[in-house]
Amino acid sequence: MMKGLLISEILKGTSIGQKLEVNGWVKTFRANRFIALNDGSTIRNLQCVVDYELFEKQLMKSITSGVSVHVYGTLIESQGVGQKVELQVEKLNILGCSDPIQYPIQPKKHSLEFLRQKAHLRIRTSTISAVMRVRSQLAQSIHRFFNLKHFYYIHTPIITSNDAEGAGDLFRVTTLNIENLPMDEKGIVDVTQDFFGKPTHLTVSGQLEAEIYALGLGKVYTFGPTFRAENSNTPRHLAEFWMIEPEMTFYDLKQNIDLVEEFIRWILKDTLEKAKEDLTFLNQRFSKEQLSKPMFQRSELNLIERIEFILENPFERISYQEAISILENSKPNQKKKFDYPITGWGMDLQSEHERYLVEKHFKKPVVIYDYPKDIKAFYMRCNSDGKTVAAMDVLFPGIGEIVGGSQREERLNHLQNRMKELGIDAKELWWYMELRKFGTVPHSGFGLGFERLVQFVTGMTNIRDVIPFPRTPGNASF
Ligand code: 4AD
Ligand code: MG
Repeated sequence: MMKGLLISEILKGTSIGQKLEVNGWVKTFRANRFIALNDGSTIRNLQCVVDYELFEKQLMKSITSGVSVHVYGTLIESQGVGQKVELQVEKLNILGCSDPIQYPIQPKKHSLEFLRQKAHLRIRTSTISAVMRVRSQLAQSIHRFFNLKHFYYIHTPIITSNDAEGAGDLFRVTTLNIENLPMDEKGIVDVTQDFFGKPTHLTVSGQLEAEIYALGLGKVYTFGPTFRAENSNTPRHLAEFWMIEPEMTFYDLKQNIDLVEEFIRWILKDTLEKAKEDLTFLNQRFSKEQLSKPMFQRSELNLIERIEFILENPFERISYQEAISILENSKPNQKKKFDYPITGWGMDLQSEHERYLVEKHFKKPVVIYDYPKDIKAFYMRCNSDGKTVAAMDVLFPGIGEIVGGSQREERLNHLQNRMKELGIDAKELWWYMELRKFGTVPHSGFGLGFERLVQFVTGMTNIRDVIPFPRTPGNASF
């Protein structure tokens, strides 16, 4: 192990006059004298001052952007503006050379599209490293919230044979040789010869398994990767994304919505405090970005104000029925500006409709509840009107749907009827039914799309830039 302090520790402490060691990558080397050194521990660089005369010429020549170094020196008050302290270098070792011509991360602005092609090196840029530190902090805040609220963290399976949820298209998991599949007498693939003896796929959600554990532990959550093979090439869809799914017994829909609001506010506040430096940087980036957009597309609030707005203002809660009425009477509908016209009760809301409600009509996050049962999943609790289910979606400015959840159908006969209506095989979900047979209780939960949350907090417009290695149709590199 190399000895050395983190740059974040050095810049925080008041160790003027101290001798210290540090390791990192050279961001820039200016005037043959000033190294801007970064080690990933903070958005800030440590300025290292080298006295050209003291070192070999050859060594000095090798210091270029991208080179990794180990330096030893004395921390002094900085002579220049821009930083309080700097390291007067006494020893310098190059750990790894770098070809200055070939190194793709030059000290200039690169497009995010370009950086996606260099996903193995883009973490050395200020923007992506800031985003990934914020992402890490958000994950920590989420675990902390649930811990404080007495939730148990459970790990639901990634490979599953249950495909009833209908949340998206499935990625098949198999060890069969797809070039030479075993067939039965009828010419159908013999899945009994597959690894698990039946068809399996990657999970689209950990909810059904989380329900099992909630009905024994009380309050649980999963936080893991989920997989959907939808062919959606949008700035908000990934084929592999992370989802946070709490599941609570004895919670009805209203308590579920109360929890999601409290949860989102808590983690945003915590992250705002703990990732202040990175968010300040991303805030400046966001504001610059806004300037390049046409007036009508610009955000009225800057990034940090947008987060603070969420902390200070309750979400708007409206029923699906109210949402439809607002949309029917809206200007874009009356002027036929929506790509999908509002056809009345029963229609599925498109993201243009959701964005109208959030960004134009209410100008704040909106929770829509009590959706028509036909556009929602089988497990959602039927309301007494017989037409709607106790579902809720949370819609965010610039993002659209960030959370989907519901109260679950805990009454066995209702669940059986619904599954029959939808043609869901009761044999497949026998265990889900048994939970309703043996000590059933009211319960609720929701799923928060982690990357969409990271997008909201960091202001990144494309979801591919908030996950280290994005998986999208046609792309699984790195
Ligand atoms: O609304 P969804 O499909 O809900 C569920 O999966 C439920 N089982 C959750 C639950 O009640 N426990 O997905 C939940 C959230 C969406 O609101 C969205 O934020 C995110 O997951 N999401 C995606 N994020 C990125 N890429 C995709 N392809 C996504 N699909 C859904
Ligand atoms: Mg949804």
